[in-house]
Amino acid sequence: MQFDEVILGRRSIRGYKPDPVPRELIEEIIGLAMRAPSSMNTQPWSFYVITGEPLEKIRAGNTERMLAGVPQSREFRTGEAFTGQHRDRQIGVAKQLFSAMDIARDDKEARQDWVMRGFRQFDAPVCVIITYDRVLDGSDDTPFDCGAVATALVNAAWSRGLGTVINSQGIMQSPVVREHAGIAEDQVIMKSIALGWPDESFPANSVVSTRKSIADASVFVGFDG
Ligand SMILES: Cc1cc2nc3c(=O)[nH]c(=O)nc-3n(C[C@H](O)[C@H](O)[C@H](O)COP(=O)(O)O)c2cc1C
Repeated sequence: MQFDEVILGRRSIRGYKPDPVPRELIEEIIGLAMRAPSSMNTQPWSFYVITGEPLEKIRAGNTERMLAGVPQSREFRTGEAFTGQHRDRQIGVAKQLFSAMDIARDDKEARQDWVMRGFRQFDAPVCVIITYDRVLDGSDDTPFDCGAVATALVNAAWSRGLGTVINSQGIMQSPVVREHAGIAEDQVIMKSIALGWPDESFPANSVVSTRKSIADASVFVGFDG
């Protein structure tokens, strides 16, 4: 696949075929992703690649705790709830997804089912947890570097026909993930990526999210002089 095809074709995948993903292919994707730049080439990231029974235990633990109302326990700062244009964009993509899935605004049960899918990692056969070295805690460069490698990973996966969705839902109950993935104490849990072969018949997989315009996003300085 050409670069533009990957970048323009990739979208978040929230419905997967149950087929397993070969370990060698995931290693190849991680190898490509790790060509991402990082601050001073620190490469602060690690990847816990989880499938099978440990992943089932994480799905079950996340579900149980979310349904029981256990408050989320992410290991990084989350800031305030979105407002203004950010909230509008959050609602915008949610509307696109609910429309594709034919979930009505007042259908609380269907909405709840949809949210619970996220806590189950969208039933993907593989989940990749990105962590970073705790010794770097406090530097905003480090989460930035994790974002860079995560973006590279989802694009590398797409170039090999695999779908992904970067998500926070999978790590909202970090103790569950830490226990079943055996995450070392010197690692901070940053983000979760569900990974697998896209189920083409799953309606939400066809949603193409919008982007603000280049003019809204960019300030060009010194070009007109
Ligand atoms: C940091 C981060 C957290 C995200 N968390 C979730 C999540 O918890 N659940 C979900 O369904 N999608 C999640 N997403 C996916 C975004 O909703 C998605 O990337 C965005 O709407 C743009 O759509 P696209 O990936 O299809 O281009 C997350 C993405 C990022 C980068």
